[in-house]
Amino acid sequence: MKIGILGSGNVGQQLANGFLKTGHEVKIGTRDSSKLNDWLKDAGANAIAGSFAEAAGFGDIIILATSWAGTENAVALAGKDNFKNKIVVDVTNPLDFSQGTPPKLDSSFGKSAGERIQSWLPDSKVVKAFNTISAFIMVNPKLEEGNPDLVIAGNDSVAKKTVIDFARSFGWQNVIDIGDISQSYLLEAFAMLWIVFGFKNNHWTHAFKLLMK
Ligand SMILES: NC(=O)c1ccc[n+]([C@@H]2O[C@H](COP(=O)([O-])OP(=O)(O)OC[C@H]3O[C@@H](n4cnc5c(N)ncnc54)[C@H](OP(=O)(O)O)[C@@H]3O)[C@@H](O)[C@H]2O)c1
Repeated sequence: MKIGILGSGNVGQQLANGFLKTGHEVKIGTRDSSKLNDWLKDAGANAIAGSFAEAAGFGDIIILATSWAGTENAVALAGKDNFKNKIVVDVTNPLDFSQGTPPKLDSSFGKSAGERIQSWLPDSKVVKAFNTISAFIMVNPKLEEGNPDLVIAGNDSVAKKTVIDFARSFGWQNVIDIGDISQSYLLEAFAMLWIVFGFKNNHWTHAFKLLMK
């Protein structure tokens, strides 16, 4: 498949590597493609860099991996028509760094990033996923103490099944579907637990697992 990724940071690049490794074509979108020169050197023939609009137009599936402050602008630059009828995987966390670190969460039920993105793109199938873990274990998520779980949310069950299949191909053994896109708030608050733990303990390679009897 063709995957369009909006976001040139760690998340965009790590997910791109996962899609490339599992046989897909990837175009990463950015306002400044020189940021991707190093990534392109090792990424292989199926990797391309371009503008946000080029990446969104290229993707059968679009990954949103922009800083929250830039997400609405990135979507506008990408052109809303390029998202129509597509699965959009929302990896963003709506973080407010204006008062320093740890950041504050700018989210609530009804106002989560996932719901806001779904409202900006009513003709797309938005799936919140991968926002609760570090970019560096989005692919091959194996830690010394075990394999974490991935939690996702979205309105469209076929879109969620597609994202679950990608996640499994990246090595996720357990993917939990927590419900419709309104549950994005829980996923964003869950990410805050990860972030606050990280700042408090200066530890950045942790992840969560749901244990059941
Ligand atoms: N880092 C992690 O481990 C992690 C884990 C889970 C979720 N997340 C979330 O995933 C998202 C991406 O994180 P990241 O660490 O990879 O990168 P980031 O530094 O948060 O975001 C980088 C991207 O945001 C774009 N951007 C910033 N301001 C913009 C603006 N005004 N208009 C348009 N685009 C703008 C940049 O565009 P240019 O390329 O044009 O500069 C770049 O592509 C964030 O929402 C983050 O909270 C991160």
